Amino acid sequence: MNYKIALIPGDGIGPEIVTEAKKVLDQVCGVYGHSFSYEEVLLGGASIDVHGVPLTDEAVETAKASDAVLMGSIGGDAKTSPWYQLEPSKRPEAGLLAIRKALNLFANLRPAYLYDELKGACPLKEEVIGDGFDMIIVRELTGGLYFGERKTVVENGVTTAVDTLTYNENEIRRIAVKAFDIAMKRNKKVTSVDKANVLDSSRLWRRVVEEVAKDYPEVALEHMLVDNCAMQLVHDPGQFDVILTENMFGDILSDEASMVTGSIGMLSSASLNETKFGLYEPSHGSAPDIAGKGIANPLATILSAAMMLRYSLDLDKEADAVEAAVQKVLTEGYRTVDIMADGMKQVGTKEMGDLIAERI
Ligand code: NAD
Ligand code: IPM
Ligand code: MN
Repeated sequence: MNYKIALIPGDGIGPEIVTEAKKVLDQVCGVYGHSFSYEEVLLGGASIDVHGVPLTDEAVETAKASDAVLMGSIGGDAKTSPWYQLEPSKRPEAGLLAIRKALNLFANLRPAYLYDELKGACPLKEEVIGDGFDMIIVRELTGGLYFGERKTVVENGVTTAVDTLTYNENEIRRIAVKAFDIAMKRNKKVTSVDKANVLDSSRLWRRVVEEVAKDYPEVALEHMLVDNCAMQLVHDPGQFDVILTENMFGDILSDEASMVTGSIGMLSSASLNETKFGLYEPSHGSAPDIAGKGIANPLATILSAAMMLRYSLDLDKEADAVEAAVQKVLTEGYRTVDIMADGMKQVGTKEMGDLIAERI
């Protein structure tokens, strides 16, 4: 079958890692008899350089007309990149938030899984790692602080900046339903993370999550305060199955969870709306410090492409094949520098992509 994929290379290491994910997808096409037609879409700094804005209406239309979007990462070094001389609403990150909103991608799934082979790259002690862990963070992606009213005002010579954290019950309900549906296919445990001891939005969050939980009697629900969750992630990561949380908490906790999998270069993500459509991107950023060096880990992006095959294109066996190839390459001892350990074989971005593709 033919599928239309919108491809967003983005900035920094984005083009390098997307090239490798595309290589793997092309191999999937060859082996399983599909064809993917790619349309390249500019986002972030790459779009600013050409169009003066981080996202155009045409880019949104191209994404909407595709079966799924595969993305690298956007953004630059805030100190040195000219993009950060622009007003905040014209910077690369604003483009990413705008495309998430325009496509209604409210559900951001970030699986954090520790491969046995990467136990040595995990900074936790062996007794903390135990049998390893396999959790998924379900992060609300189109509400909260990211999309609330924002302003900076000067009054009587004093500058005040305001960001607002708003959620309505419908926004909470739809992400909670997503988390419980996912839990039903996993170990049937949801940890809902909030700051209900301080925030009204968290108290509403808790109430709505409890209502949703009534429809899922088989799923165990627990509530956890976000500061405790940050601690528990490094104290006992094996306790988590599905972590359900709001936008900003999910952003922070997912970077933390990524590190205990060995590297942020391992953490894939899917951003979904109510349909099968989704945008797939690694959880990490454009890593300006290593861009152009050919050393970035492409596995998060390759695993995001596997999520795309599974969730948006219904190609389960093809997704399995990509995940198995990643597993195999790790078992064979190949590592990019971020997950390198004694006795392993160090490879660059392109070699890692080649190795995965050859094993499909
Ligand atoms: P980052 O995730 O880009 O980098 C943090 C650290 O992790 C760096 O040391 C980097 O080298 C390393 N790293 C990240 N990805 C890696 C990979 N695949 N392989 C090996 N090492 C990797 O975060 P940052 O430095 O805070 O942000 C840089 C830029 O990226 C900023 O402009 C930020 O806004 C943007 N950003 C974009 C996204 C996105 O596109 N979804 C996500 C996060 C940050
Ligand atoms: C992510 C990133 C983005 C976010 C930034 C670049 C806007 O950190 O995808 O995790 O905070 O959502
Ligand atoms: Mn982030």
